[in-house]
Amino acid sequence: GRVLLAYSGGLDTSCILKWLIEENYEVYAFMADVGQEEDFKAAEEKALKVGAKKFFLEDLRREFVEELIYPAIQANCIYENVYLLGTSLARPVIARGMIAVADREGCDFVSHGCTGKGNDQVRFELAFYGLKPDIKVIAPWRIPVFYDRFPGRQALLDYAESTGIPVAQTKSKPWSTDENLYHISYEAGILEDPNTTPPADMWKLTTAPEDAPTEPERIVIEFKAGLPTKLTTAIDSKSYTDAVEVFNVLNALGRKHGIGRIDIVENRFIGVKSRGCYETPGATILRAAHVDLEGLTLDRNVRALRDQFLTIELSKILYNGHFFTPEREFITSAIPASQRTVNGQVRLKLYKGGVVIEGRSSDEGLYDEQESSMDELGGFEPTDTSGFIQIESIRIKKWAQANIRKGQA
Ligand code: ARG
Ligand code: SIN
Repeated sequence: GRVLLAYSGGLDTSCILKWLIEENYEVYAFMADVGQEEDFKAAEEKALKVGAKKFFLEDLRREFVEELIYPAIQANCIYENVYLLGTSLARPVIARGMIAVADREGCDFVSHGCTGKGNDQVRFELAFYGLKPDIKVIAPWRIPVFYDRFPGRQALLDYAESTGIPVAQTKSKPWSTDENLYHISYEAGILEDPNTTPPADMWKLTTAPEDAPTEPERIVIEFKAGLPTKLTTAIDSKSYTDAVEVFNVLNALGRKHGIGRIDIVENRFIGVKSRGCYETPGATILRAAHVDLEGLTLDRNVRALRDQFLTIELSKILYNGHFFTPEREFITSAIPASQRTVNGQVRLKLYKGGVVIEGRSSDEGLYDEQESSMDELGGFEPTDTSGFIQIESIRIKKWAQANIRKGQA
């Protein structure tokens, strides 16, 4: 059969490529450009040298920003209060790109190098099945004849040497990464001890906050229906409106000012805990701006419902790899209905790792300066509030009385 392999250019997927050929598959290699820093040309040459019959590189950056990243910002998506879901968000576009190539090129099988303990295997495979239910998946790290033969990195290196797979001379880092234009993740290796502080030279996408410029930088982000539509930088008063460009400029600003580093222990879908470090510069700025603008423009009860159900559920759906499902379609069709009024501008200051909100404005009219003022009544009847408090207090007084009675008994 013909198999399309998600290829990274690294040791694991190069050995998998060779092994699949040994198992009598015809192998096509697939790479997605989701904005990671990568020598795609070198990876292509390597794949073909190892024995891939064809190599496909798909540029998925725009659909990644427009279809995954922006809707996630619009919904304030976040996992376990900290993780901005950078790896989770890229998987659906990569899987979709892969299935498109598999269909076009007549591949009955797809394969990947995800480990048997992680989230990514689940995300990729559920996405494959959600797009092409009859696809057959080969996951070598879950096949005993494969993992018994390659119990560790040394076995892979020996195999590479004996089969002529070129091994990059660069010393491999003592952790594993996953990078795209939204974030980079660091896991495993020395990071597995959750009490080990990551070395300063691990961080790749951002300047250390203490080394960031001592001059703050100011920007304005404009939103329409909860989606970023314009970025203006104060320094040169340049404006950007293209979705990908806005995101790239925010990433560059976040990098410069040391914004978006986190370090957490998270719960993987399969139930094990995992320590991860992440850098998400641009999205950290965008999410802070979006959350702020909602304060000014979003109805209280719509906001509460959205926070309680949609944000949490969608974040979980993304994390657990349930993107191509009816529940995801349902939730992402509900989000825009919550965002009709989220229009306006947020002014921000970027400074030494911090995103400081300096002001916001909107024409939506849900905020009324007169009504909110402490200095004037503006049509408000203070006596109305006496009744409101009296009624609200009925239950609270009862509870307090009961407590006192019990205390005396
Ligand atoms: N723990 C993060 C997540 O599940 C990052 C996973 C990184 N994946 C990788 N293949 N290195 O989304
Ligand atoms: C992997 O297991 O391949 C990476 C980590 C993860 O998917 O959670």
